[in-house]
Amino acid sequence: MNSLIDIFDLTPQEIMELINTACDIIDRPAAYAHKCDGKILATLFFEPSTRTRLSFESAMLSLGGQVLGFSEAKSSSAAKGESVADTIRTVSCYSDIIAMRHPKEGAPLVASMHSPVPIINAGDGHNHPTQTLTDLLTIHREKGHFDGLTVGLCGDLKFGRTVHSLVAAMSRYPDVRFVLISPEELKLPRYVKEQYIKNPGIPYIQSASLEEVMPQLDILYMTRVQRERFFNEEDYLRLKDSYILTPEKLRGAKEDLRILHPLPRVNEISVAVDNDPRACYFKQVQYGKYIRMALILKMLGIE
Ligand code: NCD
Repeated sequence: MNSLIDIFDLTPQEIMELINTACDIIDRPAAYAHKCDGKILATLFFEPSTRTRLSFESAMLSLGGQVLGFSEAKSSSAAKGESVADTIRTVSCYSDIIAMRHPKEGAPLVASMHSPVPIINAGDGHNHPTQTLTDLLTIHREKGHFDGLTVGLCGDLKFGRTVHSLVAAMSRYPDVRFVLISPEELKLPRYVKEQYIKNPGIPYIQSASLEEVMPQLDILYMTRVQRERFFNEEDYLRLKDSYILTPEKLRGAKEDLRILHPLPRVNEISVAVDNDPRACYFKQVQYGKYIRMALILKMLGIE
């Protein structure tokens, strides 16, 4: 595999291999501490990030490699008008692998066409494959399998790129069901629904009420309303608190429900839920580092 742009660049078997490597890294971190000695990861973030960028950097450092990069477009030559292609040609002279985040859909794909080194899409306008690998590792560690799960996705299903990539990924496992929970204005885009749910014939329901569907769920994937992607502030203010998960709302939930969130959280999960044993979002952050370690090894062709 040269680059990871879309979660479908990986087969389910390759995803399982990455999960197995991540689990081995969790069990035997010392065995991996020098795997990337002498290698350099560049993180090019044209859009803000805390977890994704730092987890990539932490992953590379824990593999013995080194990191360089920028964390905002304005501190790069993009601010002077440099094209993504030229930035990538340059950075690939300084690094062995590049993780790139960009607000525009397709920017990491363009980068991969101009790069002699592997490109990892660290989030663009529509896809976020490494968050999905994180989500899959979390689900697998918590549930032991993907088959037969009822996956609820709640909040901003329209702009949430992590939702689009997770729906794509989960659509490949047998007997999965989706429960799409959002206000009318923030429903899953039609093309995502057609491509990954309707065409493959996966059962799903749509609901505006989280409480109503709660008892059915095995996984609840909460998301923030994506303020920066709205066209006007008024709509954001009207929709931002559409769903706030509280201990009361969890009353009807299964005992073995698992609650995930890609983070950052704004208001959509009350802090009172954080100590519920079903809350997994901070464990998920930790898993994000291990799966990125596994991914870097795979993409650099290191055993
Ligand atoms: C997500 C993102 O950037 O798409 N965050 C992340 O990478 N963990 C989710 C979000 O910003 O809401």
